[in-house]
Parts: sequence; C-alpha cells; structure tokens
Amino acid sequence: MCGIVAAASQSNIISILADGLKHLEYRGYDSSGIAFIQNKNISSYKKQGNVSELTQSLDKKLNANIGIAHTRWATHGKPSKENAHPHISNNNIAIVHNGIIENHLEIKNKFFKDLTCSSETDSEILAHLINFYRKENEIFEAVYLALKEVKGSYAIAVLDKKNPEKIIVARNGSPLLIGLGEKINFIASDAQALIEHTNKFVYLEDGDLATVTAEEVKIYNKDKESIRRETKKSKLSLNSNSKNGYKHYMLKEIFEQPEAVRATIQDRIINNSVPKEILGPNAKEYLSKFKVVQIIACGTSYHAALVAKHWLERLAGIPCHAEIASEFRYRRHAVQKDTLLICISQSGETADTLSALREIKEEDFYVGTIAVCNVPESSLARECDSTLITHAGPEIGVASTKAFTTQLAALMLLVIVLGKRFEITAELENSLCMQLKSLPEKIKSTLDLDNKVAELAKIFSDKEHALFLGRGSHFPIAREGALKLKEISYIHAESYAAGELKHGPLAIVDENMPVIAVAPNNVVLEKLKSNLEEVKARGGKLYIFADKKAGFKNDDISQVFEIDAPMNPVSPILFTIPLQLLAYHCAIIKGTNVDMPRNLAKSVTVE
Ligand code: G6P
Repeated sequence: MCGIVAAASQSNIISILADGLKHLEYRGYDSSGIAFIQNKNISSYKKQGNVSELTQSLDKKLNANIGIAHTRWATHGKPSKENAHPHISNNNIAIVHNGIIENHLEIKNKFFKDLTCSSETDSEILAHLINFYRKENEIFEAVYLALKEVKGSYAIAVLDKKNPEKIIVARNGSPLLIGLGEKINFIASDAQALIEHTNKFVYLEDGDLATVTAEEVKIYNKDKESIRRETKKSKLSLNSNSKNGYKHYMLKEIFEQPEAVRATIQDRIINNSVPKEILGPNAKEYLSKFKVVQIIACGTSYHAALVAKHWLERLAGIPCHAEIASEFRYRRHAVQKDTLLICISQSGETADTLSALREIKEEDFYVGTIAVCNVPESSLARECDSTLITHAGPEIGVASTKAFTTQLAALMLLVIVLGKRFEITAELENSLCMQLKSLPEKIKSTLDLDNKVAELAKIFSDKEHALFLGRGSHFPIAREGALKLKEISYIHAESYAAGELKHGPLAIVDENMPVIAVAPNNVVLEKLKSNLEEVKARGGKLYIFADKKAGFKNDDISQVFEIDAPMNPVSPILFTIPLQLLAYHCAIIKGTNVDMPRNLAKSVTVE
C-alpha cells in the first residue's frame, strides 16, 4: 500500500530510485513520483499510471546524490499527477508519505486556513507543516514538531533544500527500514526495493525518527533520544523478484506451490510428529493454559482462518472463532478467559490485523499471540509472542496464491501442536503428518489440470457473474475461488455455502450463471449432490471440481474436473489450485492486468 524508496549517496541515485520503485510497484500503482536535490534546488517528476510511465519520462542525464520516490495507492484523492507524491512545500521541503494523516483537515484549519492545496491528499499538509516549523528550527526538529501534531499512521521520508546531504525519516504504524551500504544509505518501505544493493537492514519501530546521509545513519526514539536498532541480514535474493520465464508473477507463484508448501512443512515434521518447539520458547507459557482460539485476518488470509477454524474444532475439539480484523476491532467481544490469539497475514503489515493485535495485547483475557506470517522481519512477526513463518518466498502478484496454500500448511502444523492437549492423538498426528507430506506431489498433479482449466476459462470470460459453492472446510475454498476471480478478471463472483442456495441465491441461477462447485469426497458429499441437483433443475450450468471418487459424471449440464484429493483434512489445499488457475486464465482472456489488478494493492497498510 504505497511504496517508498529513497537514497543518500556520494554518487548518482536516480536509477536506484527508479529500479526500487519497480520492485515496490506491487504495493500500489496508481501514480508515482520522484524528488531530488540538484544544484541546491528540489526537482520533481510525477506521473499518473504505473511506474514505467514515470521511469520512461525521466531524462537519462539526470544526476543527483540524494532523492526520495513513491508509488501510490490512492486513499485521499483520486489517482492523478497532482495527487502523486512527493508533495512539495514552497520549493523548500519534499515528502513522500505512506499511511493516513487522519487530522489533516484540522491541521489545515489550524495552520493554513487560507492555503489552497495543490492536491486532494492528506499528505500534502504534512509537507507544509514541516516547512512551517522549518522557518525557525533545524530540519530534524521541524519534522519532530510537525509529527507531534499528526494523528494517524505514517512512514515518511523528507528532503530539505537547505540540507542537501540528509534525508529525515520517521515511522508510526507504517513500515519503514533503512538499508546500509558503502558510501550510500537507503530507505524503503520494504526490503525488496533494495535487495539489489544491500542485504543489511535496520527496521524502524513506531515512534522512531532518523537522519540518513551517505555516510551515517542516526536513529532517535519518540523523545528524541539517540538509540540503536539492531542491523539484520535479509535472506531475500534478487532471483525471488524475477518471473523466471513465466508470463506473470501470479502464474509463477501458482506453479511454485509444491515447493513452497514443502519448504513450509519440512524440518517441522520429525518422525511423523510436529514438535511444539516450532513455536519458539515463548509458547511454553500459553500452550499449557489456553482454552479457546480466536483467529483474525483479512482478505485471503481470512479464508485461511476459516479453514483453520474447521480444523481446530473438528480435529482437535478446540473452540475457535475466526473474524475479519477490521470487524473484530470495532466491536465489543465477550472474550473467554485464556483465549489464544492467532493472526494470519502474508505481509505482516496489514493495518487492520496489526491494530487488532495491539489492542488485544492490552487485555487480560488473552494468554498468548501467534503470527502465521510470510515475512519474518514484519511488524506482526515482531509483535506476536510466537511466529510460525510460512516459507512461500516473496509473493509479488497482488492476488495471493502460494501465500494462501502455505498458510494452510502452516496452520495444519499449528492445529497439530495446539491439539495435542485436546483431542489430537498420536495416531491422528501421524496420519495428519503423512497427509501434509504427500501434499507437494499432490499439488503437482493438480497443476496438471492447467490446460483443461484454460479451456474452461473460455466459457467464463464473457460472463458477468459466477457463483461458487462449497460446504464445510471447502466453503472457504469456494470463497477464495470467488475472490480470485473477482480480483483479477473483474467478473462479479459470489460464494455460498451450498446448503444456503435454496435460501436466496437460487433465484439468480439460470443458463447465464455459471455455478462452480467444490466437491470433495467427504461426509457431506450426498448433501452437496442434492444442492447441485437444485441448480440443474433451474437450468444452471455446473462446473464441478470433484474428487476422483466422488462419483460425478459429465452430462449436458455439468462438466466435471477430477482431482486426486482423497477424503482427508488437507484436501482444501488441493481444491484451491484449479480455482486459482481458473481466475488466472479468465484474466488472460479478458486482458486485465493480472499481477496488478485495478484499484488493489498487495499490502494494505491503511485501515
Ligand atoms: C490485500 C491483498 C490480499 C491479502 C490481504 C491481506 O487485500 O491484495 O491478497 O489477502 O491484503 O493481506 P495480508 O498480508 O494480511 O495477508
């Protein structure tokens, strides 16, 4: 959700910023901009559209040793050149900002009543405020005083014309890190922007401010006291940012799933058992105490939460609630004593999930917090008592694929560990471990459906609506299938628990409404079959993804796609694969931007 990259160097930084923006584009791609100091003046370039619009417009001869850049996902004000960052105040101060200044109108009324802003953003006012304080203060102090007025979240990088050697940065609620180099230092909202140049990073914490020059980084806490933050070595590699011969990141990430799931489970299953040590030393405390589980997450991660809820209750007999973080935050809960909180997030930076976690930590009823997360250095991973990292590797496509299936694999490991004190016997543990270990090969064979699903997509691509059905732990998979289709092909898709069909959605079923069913061979198979008969009777066209042994046959109303997904708890992971492929191929036929669908962003760091 918006990306920041900046650098202070003894040599030219323009191409570093341009390349950095390219790597951050998955965070937002409505517009982008760059500002730098050249000949003691601030110059800037901005463009609406994706980052290449900006980079192609940059004069190859530009040369500057210090600069800040931004790629935007619009919150306040439409995508436009005017609203693109950096925002500049009086040619003195330039800022890039991620987050939301919630009281921007109050600040305007208090300090700049008569000012006509040149953008509709909440961010511009912060540039003016820093410039205001700059008149009587040194730049660091000016930024500090300006931020004292701000309510909301921010990660900022500030250029001051009078200090052409330094960048001032600050963070509160939006991620920001400093990359360390030789005679050059960098700033970015995530490490991927800088991995070409350094693997040494200092992660700022909320309330931190810092000054960054080519030679030196100084960090201060919210009281302006000089502090040290640990330097961490990132394991990211440049390779993880490439498409590796695939046409899109999303397709590459779909096909990476066998390996990603293998990486997530390997070393965590020993002799068909999952040691509790996978949760680290802090787990000891809560593992023996918790009685109930509460899961919070957003988007695709929420669908993983719904599957985990089924698993926890069905396999382990542990009461579990799962809720969307943005809903969870704003209502009163009747929390049971000794609740364990699980936060699921690919990025570990989703604002709603993080805020909910922070509020919960203030309450007494929770005995512990676990992050299931793909980014070890993220805020979520740092702030929870334990972290179970998913080893999906960087996911660049905005629509989540391998992050989801690795979340599910990690959640099954977690269910096993949590369930040992409840109903997970050694025998069940053994069987679940075997199922997990068989997944990489089974995912590989499910991917063989690719060509068939690509054919099916031809039928879908001219449809305006689609209905996805599932039951039990496969209902969240139907939801995820509908979400994928919406996100990248813009076909309106809804998902329903198949048993609910008769309570409303059946009214919209006719020959123009494709109905996709997720049909594992499980205890509710016969019920699902009856639900699908209801569709057939109304002339609906059925596309059934079914286990080989579920007994579905092609006829003039239904087309069946067989999956080898025997009746076992991990089968939701396998049924996910063809639905991802379906969304991908529909998007290709419709010619949409698969990796950067309109209006969306990968990491949503605003509420
Ligand atoms: C955005 C992404 C989704 C993701 C959701 C939650 O909306 O586009 O793919 O599922 O955020 O993100 P998280 O990083 O918390 O899993």
